[in-house]
Amino acid sequence: MPAKNDHYSSRFPDVDLKVFTISESLRRHLYIFKTTTGVFSKNKIDLGTKILIKHMHIPKEPSVLLDLGCGYGPIGIVLAYESPQSKVYFIEFNKRAIWCVKENIKINLPYSQDRLFVLDGDYFKALKNRNIEFDGIYMNPPVRQGRDKFLNLFDEIPNYLKRGGFFEFVLRRKMGAEYVFNYLNQNFNNNNVIIKIKRSGYWVFHYSLSKN
Ligand SMILES: C[S@@+](CC[C@H](N)C(=O)[O-])C[C@H]1O[C@@H](n2cnc3c(N)ncnc32)[C@H](O)[C@@H]1O
Repeated sequence: MPAKNDHYSSRFPDVDLKVFTISESLRRHLYIFKTTTGVFSKNKIDLGTKILIKHMHIPKEPSVLLDLGCGYGPIGIVLAYESPQSKVYFIEFNKRAIWCVKENIKINLPYSQDRLFVLDGDYFKALKNRNIEFDGIYMNPPVRQGRDKFLNLFDEIPNYLKRGGFFEFVLRRKMGAEYVFNYLNQNFNNNNVIIKIKRSGYWVFHYSLSKN
């Protein structure tokens, strides 16, 4: 029998559909998530994602935030819960993950749907003609596609940030976190890249676009 394609970065994962329900306490609030076969980390929230969520900066003032490559939505849903005045965008291109994030918004944030936007598509192309700049972009990048692919994406990030905006992401040290740190320092000069925290083999990065 040919191997089925259940890679989570597929648009249409080719694996039998099963739906799961998982629960997780994140920043002292209990969330429930629907997940399916063919989406990233379906059985439990990925450790890198959890570390990012624990340490991410969440603006208290009304902001426009983006969960880039949202999967079933844990990062953006926590942002939306903890920053109730903010608009939160979710971008994803795996159709099953899109179904999950929409369900998870209904489950966890039933009264906030008018400020949450799920966009289906290939990273920033999903914004189409919307002219949006974000105060904060958050990501656990898909490393299995290769480092060059997400570094190309990172090069675009400043174009989508407001002045003074920031980008936070998590990377496993073994997946070349040090290389990425040096790359960003060379390519995003005059701006700031710092490592906020190193935990359990993961590094959380914070990049901020200067205000002028
Ligand atoms: C490492 S997973 C992280 C998922 C989720 N943010 C989390 O932390 O559980 C990366 C996600 O990026 C999505 N992705 C990969 N390539 C993409 C693309 N070109 N456009 C949009 N999303 C993409 C994958 O489908 C996957 O859900």
